[in-house]
Amino acid sequence: MSEQLVIQGETKQERYEALLPQIKSVVGEEPDLIANMANVAAMLHETFGFWWTGFYRVRDDVLLLGPFQGPMACTRIKKGRGVCGTAWQKGETQIVPDVDQFPGHIACSSASRSEIVVPVTMEGEIIGVLDIDSAELDTFDETDRRYLEQIVKMLP
Ligand code: SME
Repeated sequence: MSEQLVIQGETKQERYEALLPQIKSVVGEEPDLIANMANVAAMLHETFGFWWTGFYRVRDDVLLLGPFQGPMACTRIKKGRGVCGTAWQKGETQIVPDVDQFPGHIACSSASRSEIVVPVTMEGEIIGVLDIDSAELDTFDETDRRYLEQIVKMLP
């Protein structure tokens, strides 16, 4: 695949549609999970210009910071804590239009205003989460959920 990411599209849906085959091609050539998480975070971040885009991996009884793009972040998150820990505990994508209204939100950065967290499942088990933060309110909706859930399924 080409080393350059070129994603065009007027709408969010068009940009996800253009991104999917590129992610598939990158991930399909590489069996290493960390390498793939790193590239997926970079590709999403570059395409949409989010504030923070990255993964946390389940390690024993915590979520441990994994590959990401953006400012430094909290290293360990307990089950049920914040948006990430809630997505892990419930096994469901969490869409938060306004992080100030989410009880227990962990503010790694005060610039973060809205957030989506998608569980990453392998062989029926949650092995991590994809966390995306936006510096604007109400950035994420069902379109993001649908495409991001497809994208995390591509990880090995
Ligand atoms: N805000 C998240 C913590 C992770 S950072 O935003 C990167 C949460 O409440 O789970």
